[in-house]
Amino acid sequence: MELKRTASDYMSNFSENNSSSYVIIFSNEKGGTGKSTLAVHVVIALLYAGYKVVSVDIDGRQGTFSRYMENRSMLGNRASNRVPVPVHFRIVDDTPGVDTQEELCKIVSSAGADFVVIDSRGADSGLVRYAHSLADLVVSPINDSYIDLDLFIKLSDINNGFSPNVYAQMIWEQKLKRASKSGKSLSWLVVRNRLQGMASNNSKKVEEILELLAKKLGFKLVSGFRERTIFRELFLSGLTLLDKKTGVARGLSHVAAKQELRALLNSIISESKVGKRNF
Ligand SMILES: Nc1ncnc2c1ncn2[C@@H]1O[C@H](COP(=O)(O)OP(=O)(O)OP(=O)(O)O)[C@@H](O)[C@H]1O
Ligand SMILES: [Mg+2]
Repeated sequence: MELKRTASDYMSNFSENNSSSYVIIFSNEKGGTGKSTLAVHVVIALLYAGYKVVSVDIDGRQGTFSRYMENRSMLGNRASNRVPVPVHFRIVDDTPGVDTQEELCKIVSSAGADFVVIDSRGADSGLVRYAHSLADLVVSPINDSYIDLDLFIKLSDINNGFSPNVYAQMIWEQKLKRASKSGKSLSWLVVRNRLQGMASNNSKKVEEILELLAKKLGFKLVSGFRERTIFRELFLSGLTLLDKKTGVARGLSHVAAKQELRALLNSIISESKVGKRNF
């Protein structure tokens, strides 16, 4: 008789066997920094490049990532609009009677994809931490604001030494956990988002602090995305910058946004060591 396996069995099996997929998590404890928007764009770019991708929304109650994919699937069902869609899962945390960590573990360990892309929520939780412990790469979008930086280090203490704040501490704990469980490293990219056209003094100061933090906290800084209306226009159609018939005007901004996305993808691919394809 086969014994019923518990969540912890699955978890320890997972860390022993390890997923064959490269696991990316979009995360930042600060809400509204662009996690879901960038996650969707990265998933679709990877699909267009021919990679097999599984996407997972662990912010399933808010469900932005899932709603985007639903809108996209509805569009893709129309014969004239074939667009690639990933195999997608939505996990709603705190669902009574459901062990969401076990659910996530099963999805990741059986994905059989080149990439699993997880969209996280703008808050801490057991599931969020667990998802980080499964990840190979964290991508943290951040807005140009001291408020956003303050989740990385306590800015008020900056002149009296270096004191990591809650989000950076959480990433470090998961890095250590992953290293001690599987001997694997957790890479970390930080990508600035919603940058204003003209570099203000604030923006230069934020950049200086981020460069300092990159050395102290061990992340790589990616060039980033400007504030662009197109990122807000496409949700309803489920489309992305990379789809041909977006129905929105294509101009220089569209071309520039694609270049910004390509820079992020190149950074992800070089961290992953998965064979490079053209974006
Ligand atoms: N580069 C950009 N230019 C313009 N608007 C953007 C850009 N990136 C994201 N946005 C907009 O910013 C808002 C927040 O984005 P998004 O929902 O992706 O953030 P999030 O980090 O996933 O939020 P949450 O923490 O609530 O999950 C949305 O209205 C989105 O359309
Ligand atoms: Mg989100």
